[in-house]
Amino acid sequence: MDTLDQLVHQAAADFAAAVDSAQLEQAKARYLGKSGSLTERLKGLGKLEAEARKAAGAEINRAKEAIEAALEARRAALREAALLAQLAAEALDVSLPGRGNVAGGLHPTSRTLERIEQLFRSIGFVVADGPEIETDWHNFTALNTPENHPARSMHDTFYLEGHDDVLLRTHTSPVQIRAMLAHVARYADLDTMPEIRVIAPGRVYRVDSDATHSPMFHQVEGLWVGENVSFADLKGVIADFLRKFFESDDLQVRFRPSFFPFTEPSAEIDVAFMSGALKGRWLEIAGCGMVHPNVLRFGGIDPERYTGFAFGMGPDRLTMLRYGVNDLRLFFDGDLRFLSQFR
Ligand code: DAH
Repeated sequence: MDTLDQLVHQAAADFAAAVDSAQLEQAKARYLGKSGSLTERLKGLGKLEAEARKAAGAEINRAKEAIEAALEARRAALREAALLAQLAAEALDVSLPGRGNVAGGLHPTSRTLERIEQLFRSIGFVVADGPEIETDWHNFTALNTPENHPARSMHDTFYLEGHDDVLLRTHTSPVQIRAMLAHVARYADLDTMPEIRVIAPGRVYRVDSDATHSPMFHQVEGLWVGENVSFADLKGVIADFLRKFFESDDLQVRFRPSFFPFTEPSAEIDVAFMSGALKGRWLEIAGCGMVHPNVLRFGGIDPERYTGFAFGMGPDRLTMLRYGVNDLRLFFDGDLRFLSQFR
């Protein structure tokens, strides 16, 4: 039979060979379990004489303590190894650069709107706005648009369910009415009333969608009302604006007679570049005209005394021209590969 020392050695070696706590507990059972080798020896003590039993018992107990110590040491080592493995598996390398640190940028449309506002501010215009959910009265009636005008149909205009007098504004022109009414309300003495010079950028909505039309798009409305404001002023302001906007004198501006219910006379504004990819092509960028007397009246202004011009331009169109973009929908798809080029 093995000596006790050999048994202790054997147990320590078995414990060391156990790679996890299940194996370790099995190894423990082989020595300290009910029929483990050490337990068997303890049972064998009964057959010995009292003196010999005492001496052998003490030795077996020492061996038992040694085995238990080896067991406890191995348990601690396995716990430590498991902890280290878990820490390694869950490790975070905090020295890696973060992924979310790209700087954002303004949307190309926002850039254009800011630029337009800035250029008009420099000649004394103030920025005005109005609601995108607008009344039929502001959007059509006060703009001299007849009851049966096609723009008022459900094919062209988004109405709000259950309200036939409320709609998503189809243009920024209702801001003309709001600006005039606010202006006359502010100046009690209309004889000394300053001129109205406002610009109103914003979103507008129509039942329309293809490469050059989006159901939501942008407009910038302009309005200048005062004594002796003429069509010549309109032409000067617009031509000057376009040259500054495109940073080029190399373009021509054309006023093509047209019709709008809210202006008389009315015109469409076209621009053509004298060089570059679009050389020589006339592109429509705005509608304009002298504010119709009925519209001035709806705005609380005396058309016998005051005149004004108005225009409504498509800044999305201007953005496409300025940056050479050929599909309007790119602006609204939210694709970062497109948008990040404008950062
Ligand atoms: N509101 C017109 C449209 O959406 C554009 C327009 C034309 C605005 C002539 C004006 C204007 O202020 O005078 O088509």
